[in-house]
Amino acid sequence: MDLQRVENDVDLDQLLITEDEIATCLRSMAKEIEADYAGKDDLLLVGVLKGAVMVMADLARALDRHVEMDWMAVTSYGSGTKSSGVVRILKDLDTDVAGRNVLIVEDVVDTGLTLSWLVANLQSRGPASVRIAALLRKPDAMQMEIDVDYVGFDIPNAFVVGYGLDYGEKYRNLRCIATLAGDVHD
Ligand code: IMP
Repeated sequence: MDLQRVENDVDLDQLLITEDEIATCLRSMAKEIEADYAGKDDLLLVGVLKGAVMVMADLARALDRHVEMDWMAVTSYGSGTKSSGVVRILKDLDTDVAGRNVLIVEDVVDTGLTLSWLVANLQSRGPASVRIAALLRKPDAMQMEIDVDYVGFDIPNAFVVGYGLDYGEKYRNLRCIATLAGDVHD
């Protein structure tokens, strides 16, 4: 799904980040990651399903080095747009992270509740390191002090869709990131 769809979709408000801006951003994030993990050959990217699928696919391919990829699924939102604050593992990693350099790959840090829980959960498994890469961060929505090591874009506290992010499971396949019209989620 592309830009034309944003213009014609009554549920969408406006284009926030273009496909090209996302690609450029992930390429430079990949360069930073390559430099920071130089000499560490055991980098494990942990994607958080389902939102991080697109970020993971593009970030991993922008990395000019070996990485492993694994996935976790956790609940944090229902089909609406408000954080429940309740985190539960729906799918755990297949990989033992003990002694590994783990980089969590996320779509968006909103309240930070999910990520702070996830970091604590992964830390308890004895990894060498745990860092976070997130395409989007909403500084005004954050409720937890959380260090996001690699941030693509800081965005306003609005509900956004596209590039993996959904509203009621729709719009994940939109190539860009757009805001949802106010009357849809209020
Ligand atoms: P947090 O726990 O509030 O930081 O939110 C974590 C999860 O909520 C993200 O990984 C997303 O799956 C979802 N989420 C938060 N904000 C948005 C948004 O604007 N659009 C779609 N999903 C969102």
